[in-house]
Amino acid sequence: MLKVTGLTRTFGGLTAIAELDFQVSENTIYSIIGPNGAGKTTLFNLLTGVYRPTSGSIQLMGQELAGLSPLQIALKGVSRTFQNLQIFAGMTALENVMVGCHGHGRCGLLASCLGLPSLQKEAKYIEELARRALEFCGLSNIAERPVSALPYGLLKKLEIARALATQPRLLLMDEPAAGLNDTETREMVGLIRSIQATGITVLLVEHNMGLIMDVSDRILVLNYGQKLAEGIPFEIQRNKAVIDAYLGNE
Ligand SMILES: Nc1ncnc2c1ncn2[C@@H]1O[C@H](COP(=O)(O)OP(=O)(O)OP(=O)(O)O)[C@@H](O)[C@H]1O
Ligand SMILES: [Mg+2]
Repeated sequence: MLKVTGLTRTFGGLTAIAELDFQVSENTIYSIIGPNGAGKTTLFNLLTGVYRPTSGSIQLMGQELAGLSPLQIALKGVSRTFQNLQIFAGMTALENVMVGCHGHGRCGLLASCLGLPSLQKEAKYIEELARRALEFCGLSNIAERPVSALPYGLLKKLEIARALATQPRLLLMDEPAAGLNDTETREMVGLIRSIQATGITVLLVEHNMGLIMDVSDRILVLNYGQKLAEGIPFEIQRNKAVIDAYLGNE
């Protein structure tokens, strides 16, 4: 589904991602782990068009994504959540999810400016998508609540609902369990699994190794922007280089 070849991104003298190669099969949960500053979020920013690659290729179903804008990439079915919550404080939960569908409608700018009836139909359609995504994440009961009143654990799910409302084929989740307690983390594992069960391919960045070893089909370990190891959880847990650089002996 995703084929990354020779991907490199530098910031001045710093190489954040270096000659990275990996492939993700459709409908798998593929995780990216590594120490702080290893380049995980930078990789997500490259895959979603927030940063342009310095060099290399990113192919989604054989189509090149490198050089496309974030919206162009989103329209090809790639969606994401953020390490630091990106929530609009003055809005309800539903509105926050609907904002994620911006640019995904069928109406053009002209219809929007003229306020044509087609636009109202589209707004209804987007609301329907947003409500379905909220329901999928178990958030229907808070749809009309202002997000400022919601606890952190629900906001993490709300970000996922927003990403799902665009009906992605590939979903990138940057530390979905960060800051969650044990119960919330278990719920998050269930949610990630149920997302995969709908046919979506999941790319996951997480520091919670219990969660990672539990849900991942394959794991890529990054260190200083380079691939340190790649394989199934069983292999990664026993890889000496990974233990030395990141996992530790415990
Ligand atoms: N816009 C930028 N300008 C300059 N340097 C950057 C930029 N974005 C990332 N970096 C650098 O790239 C490196 C990788 O950072 P990145 O945020 O991708 O790490 P990470 O693996 O996500 O870490 P963490 O686990 O702490 O979230 C770091 O050295 C960071 O300072
Ligand atoms: Mg990060």
